[in-house]
Amino acid sequence: MENGKSVIALVGSYRRGGVVDSAVDEILAGAQQQGAHTTKIFLMDLSIAFCTNCRSCTQEAGATRGNCGQKDDMDRILAMIAQADAIVLGSAMNFGTVTAITKRFIERLLPFAYWPWGGAAPQRREKKGRKRAVIVTATAAPAFMARPFSHIVKLLRTAVALLGAKQTYVLFIGLAALHDKPRLSNRVRRKARRLGKKIAA
Ligand SMILES: Cc1cc2nc3c(=O)[nH]c(=O)nc-3n(C[C@H](O)[C@H](O)[C@H](O)COP(=O)(O)O)c2cc1C
Repeated sequence: MENGKSVIALVGSYRRGGVVDSAVDEILAGAQQQGAHTTKIFLMDLSIAFCTNCRSCTQEAGATRGNCGQKDDMDRILAMIAQADAIVLGSAMNFGTVTAITKRFIERLLPFAYWPWGGAAPQRREKKGRKRAVIVTATAAPAFMARPFSHIVKLLRTAVALLGAKQTYVLFIGLAALHDKPRLSNRVRRKARRLGKKIAA
């Protein structure tokens, strides 16, 4: 039975059927079990131009997202995210941080900040989010080693906060590069399902 909630997932890993993508599928399956409507988007399938640091999107004060002059898929995707009740954002860890396409997407979230010329640092326009979110990452290293030495969780948290997350859960998958055919452990699968149910509740 549908529960009226919607969950949008953004996959910033390059491999379809990879570790992050599979974990996102489990999260979405959990959300569906709860009755939510789910949508999954691969960032690689979108046209996402680089942020050029023109800062025109940050000059007007107010809670409304600033206008970006780039003509690509960002406006459409951000509108879809705005409609969703919950967000899933996943990226593999590459060279200690998110994948390049994920970083490109995150840099384009600058319109959610007010940062006039002369201002030392950007301020988030909308401080109170209302959405639930799960951030997902996967590393070759064991999670207990990779997590403290990387800012990847902080970065993904910042991204979903800008997108309106109030409450964010973390799925950090270590030892993700041992097999040529990616597979999830039962423990990860169970946690992913549980998180999917939580964000769709
Ligand atoms: C270019 C590249 C850089 C990587 N850098 C790291 C790294 O810094 N730390 C790490 O633990 N694993 C690293 N890995 C391993 C990936 O994180 C691992 O294969 C990934 O989690 C797989 O995710 P996917 O199946 O969703 O693509 C790297 C892999 C590639 C291809």
